Amino acid sequence: MAKLALLGGEPLVKERLGKPWPIWGEEEEKALREVLHSGLWWRGGYADWKESKVGQFEDAFAAYQHARWGIAVTNGTQALECALKAAGVEPGDEVIVPALTFVATATSVALVGAIPRIVDVDPQTYNISPAAIEAAINEHTRALIPVHNGGYPCDLEAINALAQKHGLMVIEDCAHAHGSEWKGRRVGAIGHFGAFSFQQGKTMTCGEGGIVLTNDDELAEKAYSFMHIGRLSGRPFYEFHRVASNLRMTEWQAAVLPCQLQRLDEQVETRERNITYLAEHLWQMEGLQPLPRDREVVTRWSFYYWNFKFLAEAWEGVSRDTFLEALRAEGVPCGVGGHGRPIYRNPLFQQMNFGRTGFPLKCPCCNRWRIDYREVYCPEAERIYRTEACSFPHAMFLGPQSDMDRLLAALQKVWENRDELRRYQDEGETGAITEITVEGR
Ligand SMILES: Cc1ncc(COP(=O)(O)O)c(C=O)c1O
Repeated sequence: MAKLALLGGEPLVKERLGKPWPIWGEEEEKALREVLHSGLWWRGGYADWKESKVGQFEDAFAAYQHARWGIAVTNGTQALECALKAAGVEPGDEVIVPALTFVATATSVALVGAIPRIVDVDPQTYNISPAAIEAAINEHTRALIPVHNGGYPCDLEAINALAQKHGLMVIEDCAHAHGSEWKGRRVGAIGHFGAFSFQQGKTMTCGEGGIVLTNDDELAEKAYSFMHIGRLSGRPFYEFHRVASNLRMTEWQAAVLPCQLQRLDEQVETRERNITYLAEHLWQMEGLQPLPRDREVVTRWSFYYWNFKFLAEAWEGVSRDTFLEALRAEGVPCGVGGHGRPIYRNPLFQQMNFGRTGFPLKCPCCNRWRIDYREVYCPEAERIYRTEACSFPHAMFLGPQSDMDRLLAALQKVWENRDELRRYQDEGETGAITEITVEGR
């Protein structure tokens, strides 16, 4: 039996799995040079905005995601803010968000003055639980933000049905899910809005960027206005209708994104091929399990990170964190379930750090908090975070199938050495959960 790299042996994976990220080529260089020489570096430089690179990308990406309208913005956090404002979310309203996500899903809600209500996730998919949503709805609830965690589409049928029943807006957080499909429809406009991120690590990137999608003409107009300092399309340039920020994407960003979109289908297919192969083998391995996937429902799974489960019982005392430490030492990038801890565990929430007045979380009349995040506890999210969830980054799956064989060999090596690992762990070499992200940051 080969000695674990963690215990001084040779790492099994000596060369990178997959490809370095981001991927770019002559197409991006050419498009960026075009912008430079045009002297038109913002979308407003064109008489018809739709002729700008931003305008053209909005149409192309909306069509790709099966949506009618796209409103490009500066980043994914502001895509959420723009959608929330256009959805009519205002101070004092409540918006339901999942515990397992990136913090921006909740902070975007607070940034528009509303109250994020954080609820538990489904143990099978790690996505927001429709039952938990239903239990959290009250007279203040105005919207829901289901996050397609890791790119795995949420149960949008159940979520839309709840929204309809209670008169709520649905904003899909699609930061991880460019190209993912739910029953043959791409995510992003299955709810009222979809918000995407094009930040550096995402499966399509221009460093920073975002877009809001919708099928609704009126909502699209509002989102456009909130992106553009409160202007209305077709009205004079110096006429303003809303309190709104400048969220405009630049031509530089929009030069890069179509080139990225061109490559996306092939990348999604390569990733799908590799994870299908990996999942088939994981099902045969003791101790590790992929998330269950119903191919009739999740018809396309474009993922930002690929979550899988560590089955603690089978490992007879070896913890998930010791397993990840050993796997990393073998040369495999891996992390603790995407973004790590349930979001309410951040100092922001634990210290109730909402400014001098605390408004609107603190009622100005009775000075009492409307919600105390120190009391929020989501048992499934806690268990998943502490003991079960493991993730691989997306770029790891852009290589040949032989990469999956190397990955499986590393997993097998760690499994076979579990007695050694248990001894290592019992000697007290490991500490608290290492919150390494899947990108290794
Ligand atoms: C689920 C989720 N929502 C929103 C965002 C925010 O996107 P951005 O970093 O572009 O602001 C991210 C970024 O990682 C994310 O993972």
